[in-house]
Amino acid sequence: MKFGFFDDAKKEYVINSPKTPYPWINYLGNQGFFSLISNTAGGYCFYKDARLRRITRYRYNNVPIDMGGRYFYINDNGTIWNPGWAPVKTELDEYECRHGMGYTVITGKKNGLKAEVTFFVPQNYDGEVQQVVLTNESNEAKSFSIFSIAEWCLWDAQDDCTNFQRNFSTGRVEIEGSTIYHVTEYRDRRNHYAFYTVNDEIDGYDTDRDSFLGSIYNGWDNPETVKADKPSNSFADGWSPVASHYKKVTLAPGESKTLIYILGYAENPQDKKFAAEKPANLLTRETWVLNKEKAYAMIEKYNTPEKVAAGLAELRSTWEDLLSIFNVNTPDDKVNRMVNIWNQYQCMVTFNLSRSASYFESGIGRGMGFRDSNQDILGFVHQIPERARERLIDIASTQLSDGGCYHQYQPLTKKGNADIGGDFSDDPLWMILSVAAYIKETGDWGILDANVPFDDDPNGKHTMLEHLNVSFYHIVNNLGPHGLPLAMRADWNDCINLSCFSDTPGESFQTYTNPKFKAEGGYSKIAESAFVAALFTYTGPAFVGILEHLGKKDEAAKAQAEIDKMKKNVMESAFDGDWFIRAYDANGEKMGSKECEEGKIFIEPQGFAVMSEIGKDQGADIKTLNSIDKYLNCEFGLVLNNPAFTKYYVQYGEISTYPGGYKENAGIFTHNNAWIICAEAYAGRGDKAFEYYSKIAPAFTEETSDIHKTEPYVYGQMIGGKDAKNFGQGKNSWLTGTAAWNMVAISQYILGVQPVFDGLKVDPSIPHEWDGFTAVRKFRGATFNITVKNPAHVCKGVKTMTVDGKAVEGCVIPVCNGGTHEVEIVMG
Ligand code: BGC
Ligand code: NOJ
Repeated sequence: MKFGFFDDAKKEYVINSPKTPYPWINYLGNQGFFSLISNTAGGYCFYKDARLRRITRYRYNNVPIDMGGRYFYINDNGTIWNPGWAPVKTELDEYECRHGMGYTVITGKKNGLKAEVTFFVPQNYDGEVQQVVLTNESNEAKSFSIFSIAEWCLWDAQDDCTNFQRNFSTGRVEIEGSTIYHVTEYRDRRNHYAFYTVNDEIDGYDTDRDSFLGSIYNGWDNPETVKADKPSNSFADGWSPVASHYKKVTLAPGESKTLIYILGYAENPQDKKFAAEKPANLLTRETWVLNKEKAYAMIEKYNTPEKVAAGLAELRSTWEDLLSIFNVNTPDDKVNRMVNIWNQYQCMVTFNLSRSASYFESGIGRGMGFRDSNQDILGFVHQIPERARERLIDIASTQLSDGGCYHQYQPLTKKGNADIGGDFSDDPLWMILSVAAYIKETGDWGILDANVPFDDDPNGKHTMLEHLNVSFYHIVNNLGPHGLPLAMRADWNDCINLSCFSDTPGESFQTYTNPKFKAEGGYSKIAESAFVAALFTYTGPAFVGILEHLGKKDEAAKAQAEIDKMKKNVMESAFDGDWFIRAYDANGEKMGSKECEEGKIFIEPQGFAVMSEIGKDQGADIKTLNSIDKYLNCEFGLVLNNPAFTKYYVQYGEISTYPGGYKENAGIFTHNNAWIICAEAYAGRGDKAFEYYSKIAPAFTEETSDIHKTEPYVYGQMIGGKDAKNFGQGKNSWLTGTAAWNMVAISQYILGVQPVFDGLKVDPSIPHEWDGFTAVRKFRGATFNITVKNPAHVCKGVKTMTVDGKAVEGCVIPVCNGGTHEVEIVMG
């Protein structure tokens, strides 16, 4: 069952029922100011950091779900409704929500009145613009009123939802004309404020939540002021501040009126915090006056429909440009809309926000993840390489000089989060991959010389190359008894906690280490990760390639020897006959082996081991891929492990706490499905690669949205696995490494358009039925129009390649300085 459709020409997903199986959201904002907005206008906004600069309040885990956001209420002679249906939930005559690239348009119609609301955050602007177009489509004049509402969060989202004894007494506002300013804590230690304005005279307002709702027993679905059609002109004072505008409107038949609301954020320099004078119309109870210059300028920027149209046009053209860097035309529409529109869009969102703020991530718990943000770059780097570069330097600066690193950092402070710390064994490796991806995309070898400090030597002079070096040797220097990397606190799978042995409720699997390992330095020196071993052999060659390019032959040979040794160790100690084991636990027992009672096979090490060609000469790659198909493949994707754990294994940790089929315990964890898609494509099995791709790519789940539940235009972290009662149900949509990795899987492995150090490789691994495909790829200043022909209907194999009619040896398009070039590839 579907709840909408793709409008590919407009690059929109059009939702035609407000009652989607879960709130289907979009992200507004690309630089500093961000909003989450659901198809019923739920959500919230923040500046840069969803925890430390939360602007509007949102209640997670609420019932009914998704109550809270920015809403417009219309009171049309006693009929009260919202353009997006919620929160009043009056049945609408018509409803539509269009989620587009950085904007959302929600339209509701009731009793001949149409309200179309366009929400967007303009480029380089710290505010959300909401344009409301009201049209009287009836044959009679209509008089009605419109109320807006935004509820202010008291800046620090964590504090906001815990520290009530203080927060219930701190609220402060100022009101000037049609603008309501939120200035809680401004006088004291903050220099930022927020405002909510409308570009017209208003007929009343509210700034105190209880007054707006009329009773503390009312919810957003029945505010008393809206029912009474009478605002209370309340002034919030030390108590829950909100911002609501009241406006009476009369429209002749066919007439329209446009109102532009802006919800903005601004910061003042310390010495310019206060205004010298108090304007006559200012409502305040303070003795000081906020300096509103920045707000005035922001309001001026978008206070007419023409200016709004220009802002929207700028946003659209930004996205047109971004999406013109890589696009394809394959025989499959669903692939085209994923690659050309939605997957790239999601990669921008994950790049911006890592795992911080979604409908499943509260914005409080996690800032930017080290491993997460590094992987996000893989899917994003071609869009805005300069931003990727800046991010790489930020991330690397949270690394320690021994190669270890903080697992997360706050985007506002750019400092590592001490409460979670480090010692996640895989973290450093992802940086080798992301820096290499950046160089392959741009040819900017200069990044290796960039001055990047270490967290424990903030003033020292260090280069990015040094960071890569310590990353590589952090693995080599921390091996266990079988010569495999120590698992440390966890590897990519945060839920395999081999040094935790937790038996007490409340201990965090992510931060708790059993005291028995304290003396050993915080984690077991026995537990080893075969996954990190395989990731090492997969990423290591990029490091070697970099050293070779720099002419550091001896260092390259030394690193290569470590990779070769690791491969040998894996074959000797971690190949289980038909697949690779997952780990050795702290007791020295195999995890993810035939010998185990449950969890005999895990997905994570397999793909990287296959792509590193570990044991290929003994057929290990094909045996492994076949085992995955046999044990992990199911209707909706590949499960993470099998059989699912049915007991708690204290030596494994969190993974065995989930009911079978969910999350890391045999859920379909889409992130690592991508690694298998890559591996199948790498091995030349394009049909299998595509089968797995089409099981999880969101556009392919659209028809079963009633089962899948989450948005059919973006990946979620997880889909209920075959052991789950809710088999096929998606969860944790939007902020997942799946976005980047499936972008890599489809574009670089299946379609095979892959930047390499010395050019652009094109080596597809496609379904054999395809006659071919075309692609446009802008790469290092040139544009390549690529035509791939598949007359022999093979899955893989480049027979000939020509660039501008000239034959090229192999399948790498050499770097061309500018120009447009025709590339033709014949498979066979
Ligand atoms: C989740 C993981 C997540 C980790 C860190 C765990 O509870 O299952 O998916 O990465 O927490 O937040
Ligand atoms: C989600 C986390 O963001 C990611 O870092 C981790 O790799 C996966 N969970 C798997 O546990």
